[in-house]
Amino acid sequence: METMKSQVLFLFLLSLFYGAISQPILYSIPEELAKGSRVGNLAKDLGLSVQELPARKLRVSAEDYFNVSVKSGDLLVNSRIDREKICGRKSECALEFETVTENPMNIFHVIVVIQDINDNAPRFIAKNIELEICESALPGVKFPLDSAQDADVGSNSLKVYTINANQHFSLSTKESPDGSKYPELLLEKPLDREHQSSHHLILTAIDGGDPPLSSTAQIWIKVTDANDNAPVFSQDIYRVTLQENMPPGTSVLRVTATDQDEDVNAQITYAFLNAPTSTSLLFNLDPNTGDITTNGTLDFEERSRYILGVEAKDGGVHTAHCNVHIEIVDENDNAPEVTFMSFSNYVPEDSDLGTIIALIKVTDKDFGQNGLVMCYIQEEVPFKLEFTSKNYYKLVIEKALNREEISEYNITLTATDKGKPPLSSKTRVTLHITDVNDNAPIFQQTSYTVHVAENNLPGASIAQVRAFDPDSGPNGQVSYSIVASDLEPRALLSYVSVSPQSGVVFAQRAFDHEQLRAFELTLQARDQGSPALSANVIPHILFLALFPQTSTSLRSAEPS
Ligand SMILES: *[C@@H]1O[C@H](CO)[C@@H](O)[C@H](O)[C@H]1NC(C)=O
Ligand SMILES: *[C@@H]1O[C@H](CO)[C@@H](O)[C@H](O)[C@H]1NC(C)=O
Repeated sequence: METMKSQVLFLFLLSLFYGAISQPILYSIPEELAKGSRVGNLAKDLGLSVQELPARKLRVSAEDYFNVSVKSGDLLVNSRIDREKICGRKSECALEFETVTENPMNIFHVIVVIQDINDNAPRFIAKNIELEICESALPGVKFPLDSAQDADVGSNSLKVYTINANQHFSLSTKESPDGSKYPELLLEKPLDREHQSSHHLILTAIDGGDPPLSSTAQIWIKVTDANDNAPVFSQDIYRVTLQENMPPGTSVLRVTATDQDEDVNAQITYAFLNAPTSTSLLFNLDPNTGDITTNGTLDFEERSRYILGVEAKDGGVHTAHCNVHIEIVDENDNAPEVTFMSFSNYVPEDSDLGTIIALIKVTDKDFGQNGLVMCYIQEEVPFKLEFTSKNYYKLVIEKALNREEISEYNITLTATDKGKPPLSSKTRVTLHITDVNDNAPIFQQTSYTVHVAENNLPGASIAQVRAFDPDSGPNGQVSYSIVASDLEPRALLSYVSVSPQSGVVFAQRAFDHEQLRAFELTLQARDQGSPALSANVIPHILFLALFPQTSTSLRSAEPS
């Protein structure tokens, strides 16, 4: 309260005497002088002698900052004088106050100019500056950064910015319209995220003081991805072998491509090149994983090798290609096949040994052992298979044939491959043996004895001879005839005849008692074979005798 009163009084007095105040007394001191530092000899500058000082009661109104030594009349620093606190960013800074003397009272104007000293370093508001720069940014692109603050003024204020030496960036110091200086980062050399994805720079702000003060901030640069990398397959050619006949959905392999970009730029999708083709339809390709699976049943015999082109595409425009070679491994899934290239299924029984009856081709669609075929005849037959050349066999006669014994053969040809397990196929053919006239008729008896009753009826059948011929058809068709007798030929005709077909012997007349005699006939049985008519004459004796009885008897006799 007391202080405030005295200030009011002081201001009143000031206004009263101001007009009388001469030129102000001017001092200049640097800020931040120690308490007690001498600003100047105020008494002397006011024209007062040291002796009169006690009586004149010299004092200053700015007692917060200054006081006056009673002994020397010096103006002394009384407390800390911080230019920045008093004047802020103003370039000129002065403390103005009055000095008063009493007896007589007088008042003087004093100006103490406060000089700036470099007591403030530049200061970054943000100590960490984060930047994202796309790797596709071109050299020359600029990145203005926030300025640093320096409370000092003039030459002590912020002067320049620098960054540490580095390969990609340079820094310049720019001035904005309000006069403040800010750093500007300049890209000098292209960035490559895949090579270096972040950069750390140290930004230094330096003021113009002597010595200069500085401070630093960290610049953290994250290089963002540009889709500047194409995908790369882990292999140019993928090879795999795959068993045939695997069920659809069987895993084949996985192709893998990588992309050094990030995020969507590295997101790879896979697709068959030139799909859809019949080949690509047989396989499925997972667009996201690169997994290839079968989409059908693969048949080695149809195709044993596939080459698939696969494309990997990143999120942008880049692609890569690879080939997938798939070898199909044979499985023994095909039975051999037997084909008759030629076949005569009617074979004359007198054919020579070694005669070729059939030419047989044996095939198997499988590969290697699975396609290696052995062929044999299952039955015991007079034929054999002879290996001719690759895949060919001939069926030949091995033993003599005899139609009269066996006239037809059912032959089963079995073809077996060497797969594990083996597969086989059977083919059955019927071979007919055709007849040749190789058998003569044979009489059932070598001789016949016939008794004829007296007074027989003319034309009566008195005997029957029979010959058998095992040949077939005309070759076995027997006809009978009388080829010799002890009667003279003309008389013979009037006595007996023989039916060519049945061999029945007929009496041509009634034999009477006078005529009783016995006679011999030679009958011939003859087959109808052609061209080699093979008729055999077998002499047989027919005894004709006359007896009182009417019975007829035939008797077998020993061959002559
Ligand atoms: C898989 O096979 C089916 C039937 O043959 C066909 O319709 C389909 O398109 C195939 N899938 C692929 C992905 O090729
Ligand atoms: C041959 O096969 C046929 C038809 O199966 C049959 O009728 C015939 O009796 C067989 N022949 C032989 C000699 O087995």
